[in-house]
Amino acid sequence: MRILGTGGALPSNEVGNGAFSALADTSDEWIVSRTGIRSRRISSGDTALSLARSASERAIASAGIRREDISLVVCASVTGETLTPSLACLLQRDLGLREDNILAFDINAACTGFIYALGLAREFLRPGGYALLVGSEVLSRVTDFTDRSTCVLFGDGAGAVAAEASDGEFHFVSGARGDGESLVIGSIPPAPNPFSAARASPPPPLIRMNGQEVFRFAVESMTKSILCVTERAGLAPGDIHHFVCHQANRRIIESAARRLGAPPERFFMNIERRGNTSAASVPLALDELNASGRLLRGERVVLSGFGGGLTYGAVYMIW
Ligand code: UT7
Repeated sequence: MRILGTGGALPSNEVGNGAFSALADTSDEWIVSRTGIRSRRISSGDTALSLARSASERAIASAGIRREDISLVVCASVTGETLTPSLACLLQRDLGLREDNILAFDINAACTGFIYALGLAREFLRPGGYALLVGSEVLSRVTDFTDRSTCVLFGDGAGAVAAEASDGEFHFVSGARGDGESLVIGSIPPAPNPFSAARASPPPPLIRMNGQEVFRFAVESMTKSILCVTERAGLAPGDIHHFVCHQANRRIIESAARRLGAPPERFFMNIERRGNTSAASVPLALDELNASGRLLRGERVVLSGFGGGLTYGAVYMIW
């Protein structure tokens, strides 16, 4: 599989760290030193669908493909507004994509969602077919702005790629470690059910995270999965031109880079201005790297993600 074009979309509202001191007991100094984040975009009306639509339009334009040739739409998100229809189906409608011979579905693998989508697309795409793969999140819908340990971390945004089937080298590795404690976005409140015993009200659907647990999992799984895909390509981490990793914490990426023995400057970072945008993080970072002109055709690229589930995955591809 080969990525032909990328696109990104962000809410216009940029919120600096200072704004969080008024909401929770925190400071710019703590946030920058522990995470690398200085600001993030927060929706003031954008939805996961509206951001996904803008990012997709840009990805399709940058790929130079016809909308009617798209046969696969996969959206990775945990913050769509409806369980059904899926974001992918609503995108099919909004972008005017074809109705027959198309697969359109969402996947929930939290921050690893876009990496899972790439792996799935490789299985489903047939020669001559095109895929639209999107990560889109409005995490501000599920952020507890009174919880200083999480509210400072997240941002909203979307990233998308248009891809085609190709014989080019592509390696994918994925994993899951079911864990209902370390990183949870709460349940959907059930409707009253006359056939079920009364239950306590579920907690509101807000993000709860054990940061240190997830940090350890992140460094371990990122290192392991990046090593795995580079070894499958017969290479060492030092042979990779660009690493585009989930942007959750600057220290996680630096730590993985050290363990891998790869030059830190090859790890693209935009966390300073984007925060953690979950499933949008990797495609948004990829789009920004692509737009910078530093990503050249023929270069070796590794994408890597980890997150809720817990889940992780990595992809090796030639750009
Ligand atoms: O995309 C999903 C994946 N998510 C992640 O990858 C997140 C992974 N985890 C992390 O990035 C880090 O664990 C955090 C940034 C969430 C936290 O950093 P940390 O260095 O692990 O801090 P900590 O949880 O050990 O907390 C250290 C101290 C605590 O105070 P005490 O107990 O030492 O007095 C916290 O209460 O920092 C306190 N603290 C804060 N202080 C000021 C926690 N959050 C804040 C805050 N401002 N926002």
